Amino acid sequence: MVTPSVLPDDYEALREMAMACTKCGLSNGRTQVVFSDGPSTARLMVVGEAPGANEDASGIPFVGMAGQFLDLLLATVGLNRKESVYIANVLKCRPPGNRDPQPDEIAACSPFLLKQIDVVKPRALLAVGSFSARLLTGREGVALGKLRGTVHTYHGVPLVVTYHPAALLRNRRWIRLFWDDLQLLRSIIDDS
Ligand code: URA
Repeated sequence: MVTPSVLPDDYEALREMAMACTKCGLSNGRTQVVFSDGPSTARLMVVGEAPGANEDASGIPFVGMAGQFLDLLLATVGLNRKESVYIANVLKCRPPGNRDPQPDEIAACSPFLLKQIDVVKPRALLAVGSFSARLLTGREGVALGKLRGTVHTYHGVPLVVTYHPAALLRNRRWIRLFWDDLQLLRSIIDDS
């Protein structure tokens, strides 16, 4: 496993290293490494799970249905994705058939994300879905419903965790809770 401390502090060097990564089996099936989207100067960083088919094809995170829904929901609290949000995933390569990330893949890949956070230094973090929520809170095995609704911190950065937008498309009851979490996030950004 690559630890964040041995990865470069320089953003471009980090990106180039990730783009050439072959540390796990997902590198064999990928079309593209999906490193990030949005300005690295953004105050908000959103952390998702892993690229899907659309992301693998385009090289950009959250461009499929779930991503478009995320953009819409962010806009309802005045957050314009293009201008003010930096987005990355726990895994940079697509798991086949969109299966869950495996522990060895998370161990191999997450140091890139953790280094991205340290280098980008956002003022607030939003983790969507249980894989990013558990990674950033360090609360392995805890249900997302028990982690959301409060402000955590990751390396001193305020962190809100909430449902994955793809889960909202399957379970509409969670949309209201997601929106409550966005309001909490908005208040942190406004105070920062
Ligand atoms: N789901 C994610 O978690 N990330 C993406 O980039 C796309 C879908």
